[in-house]
Amino acid sequence: MKDIFNAPFITEMRKTTANMYRLGWDERNGGNISYMLDENEVYEYLDQSNVIRTIPIGFSAPTLVGKIFIVTGTGKYFKNIDDDPETNLGIIRIAKDACTAELLWGYRDGGKFTSELPAHLMSHIARLKKDPENRVIMHTHPTATLAMTHIHELDDKKFTHTIWEMCTECIVVFPDGIGVLPWMVCGNNEIGTATAEKMNDYRLVVWGLHGIYGAGKTMDETFGLIETVEKAAQLYMMIAHLPHKNTILDRELVAVAEAFGLDYRKDFLNL
Ligand code: 13P
Ligand code: ZN
Repeated sequence: MKDIFNAPFITEMRKTTANMYRLGWDERNGGNISYMLDENEVYEYLDQSNVIRTIPIGFSAPTLVGKIFIVTGTGKYFKNIDDDPETNLGIIRIAKDACTAELLWGYRDGGKFTSELPAHLMSHIARLKKDPENRVIMHTHPTATLAMTHIHELDDKKFTHTIWEMCTECIVVFPDGIGVLPWMVCGNNEIGTATAEKMNDYRLVVWGLHGIYGAGKTMDETFGLIETVEKAAQLYMMIAHLPHKNTILDRELVAVAEAFGLDYRKDFLNL
């Protein structure tokens, strides 16, 4: 058996969460990540028959039976993951009953997965239908994106349009746009269902007055999506109150989209 502390997926989780913490996105226990792992790779590090304990997931996820995820722990700080991954992370497998998680590694202090597991697993289910290679769901509290939700309409089209207008390459990075949810109570199945519904159309879902969700094939791709929204939101917050002399026009967004051969949300432009 290989040493799990050398596993590339542990290194990725340590590095990514440390990076997000340093960016100021994940105060205290803010933010959570779930990353679907290749079972053959995991079983090079862990005995598949050794279930440490089982934890109910609170809903039924039949399409995820047997799937393995590394997931941040609830109440745990991104700040601390690099120093102690085994306490702050866990590796879970969805059991045959579809309602239970089998803990294979981690949550060493008796902890459990993030309170946002419903939003994560329901989003995995939605994105896997669109893209069988989707692996990562990432939730975080990026400062400017959150600030923007205080002063901007919480509407998919209007929010996406404003973000696309901020920098030329936004439409290239997320031509499918951004879904936006109003303020909701977090950590339950209801916000999970609402997030997953948006994930049918988008890889990015903003939670009004709370944060953002991203979905992608890799940690880098997912982080990059959120990072690009956050950069645009920073620009918006810097200039929203100033007179605007220049802007990227809708016909210019079309020109970028056509130059890059993108399948973009044409209905989000006002042509
Ligand atoms: P957890 O500590 O349960 O992951 O919750 C953090 C969070 O960001 C809730 O939305
Ligand atoms: Zn949150």
